[in-house]
This record gives sequence, C-alpha cells and structure tokens, in this order.
Amino acid sequence: MLKRIKEGELVHLIDKKDKRYQILLKAGSSFSFTRGTVLHDDIIGLEDGSTVKSSLGETLLVVRPALAEYISKMRKGSQIIYPKDIAAILMLADIFPGAKVLEAGTGSGALTMALLRAVGNDGEVVSYERRKEFLEIARKNIETFFGKVESAGGSGKLVLKDKDVYEGIEEKELDRILLDLQEPWRVLKHVEESLRNGGILLCYNPTVLQIYKLSKRLELKYERSFRVMGIYEVGLRGWEIKGRSMRPEHRMIAHTGFIFVARKCSSPDS
Ligand SMILES: C[S@@+](CC[C@H](N)C(=O)[O-])C[C@H]1O[C@@H](n2cnc3c(N)ncnc32)[C@H](O)[C@@H]1O
Repeated sequence: MLKRIKEGELVHLIDKKDKRYQILLKAGSSFSFTRGTVLHDDIIGLEDGSTVKSSLGETLLVVRPALAEYISKMRKGSQIIYPKDIAAILMLADIFPGAKVLEAGTGSGALTMALLRAVGNDGEVVSYERRKEFLEIARKNIETFFGKVESAGGSGKLVLKDKDVYEGIEEKELDRILLDLQEPWRVLKHVEESLRNGGILLCYNPTVLQIYKLSKRLELKYERSFRVMGIYEVGLRGWEIKGRSMRPEHRMIAHTGFIFVARKCSSPDS
C-alpha cells in the first residue's frame, strides 16, 4: 500500500554527490543549504523515492531513511555499534520475532533499535544504561525513528532502565542477553541466573584482551553453565563502479569490535 510522506516524518534528502540532509517535516517550514531552499510543504504528500527541486534548481532524492542510514546520522552520546556489526549480531544472537531480550548498555540506542525491530510485535527489549544522560539521548533517538518509546511505532515492547547491570538483572527466563560494555565478565553471574537454558549470550568488545578475559572467566568459573559458540569480527568493504573503473573504495572501516557468542546450558547434574 502506498503511504505518502506526512508531516512529522523524518526524511533524507540526497543530492547528486550523495550528500545527505536529514529533516523532520513541519508544514510551513523550509530547509536551506548551499544549493538553495526546499519547502517542507513540497515534500509532504510525496511518495517515498520521489524527487524535489530546490529554489536554485538542484534535484534532490527524497527517501524515508533506512534504519542503518538513520543510525549513521543520529546523535551519539556513546560510541555506537556500526550497522555492519549490528547486521551480524542479529543473526549470531538469533534474534527472532517474539524474543525476550536484555541489552546493556543502551548507549546511543543503535543496537536497541535494531533489536526492537527484530523482536516484532510480540517481543520485548529491556535495555539497561547506568548513565542517565545517555539514556535520554537514546530515548530521543529511538522516538525520532519509531515514535513514542512506550508504543515504539508498532514494534516490540521497549523498556529503558536507568540501571547498572553489574549489580544484577531483574528479568528472568530471558531468551537472549547482549552486552556492549567494558567488563562483560562482571555480568556472567547475573546472566547465569537470568538467561533461560539454551538462551544466547552475545558480548561485543573492541579489544581482544577483553574477549580473552571473558573467555578465561567463563572457562574457569562458568564452564558448566555456558558453551562458547564462536568469536567473530566483521569486515565489510564497499566497491565503486564508474565507467570501466571497478575497484574497492579507498577507505573502509576496518576493525571495530569482536562478537563473542555463548549458549547457556543446564548443568549435567541439575
Ligand atoms: C559502547 S556504549 C553502547 C553502545 C550501544 N550498543 C549502541 O549501539 O548505541 C556502552 C554503554 O554501556 C554503558 N555501561 C557501561 N557499564 C554499564 C553497566 N554496568 N550497566 C549499564 N550500562 C553500562 C555506558 O554508559 C555506555 O553508554
């Protein structure tokens, strides 16, 4: 069904050099840039993927941003997980519609949004963050994309908690736990209590020292409760095709983080 772009929606305007401008549509407002001015009223009512002309004749493509495009543009409090890693995380943590997922820390909310969409209408995402100012940035980012956090634009239920996950996890029988914080080994005891058997723990860390410490702690103290499924990193390289020149882009985001995946198991004698 064709849904025309409405007032209050977020759109990206893309110029012929692929530069993007993000605007929140408001009747009567305008957007100015080096190549002229565009009236919001000229965009409201258009179909996604249409074009609009600026006052100086520049043609701009109008699109509703994809989640990865929005994440790249949104306000960052903390360092976010890059979309290339988020894509792999959704698959490696096997986030499914209806899943009950716990995440810490929320940071800027990049992973939270992807989780929310993946758990679907019947799922739930609970996200812990110990810094109030980051929680507020994340809340705003999420609401700009999905609408109110309480309803999250028809996606799964979202609960943002101003809590330190090192002190414990209130939720039980969780399907998935995802940790993007400095010392994930400090959460293992709580994960052991809160993750259901067969559930997946996924930790994301930038340094191999952190992954080593996590693996060691798991091996020494929690060997009976967890089985390591794999440790990964993701490389994604763009290519350019211009006429007969076809080559990889000069720049790429190289190392970002390691993805550590383990499964909770019931002890043989329990
Ligand atoms: C790298 S950022 C997370 C980024 C997030 N995954 C995203 O994609 O936007 C790490 C966050 O974890 C939070 N954090 C660190 N330790 C925590 C703890 N013990 N409990 C809750 N949050 C914590 C930090 O305040 C920070 O916001």
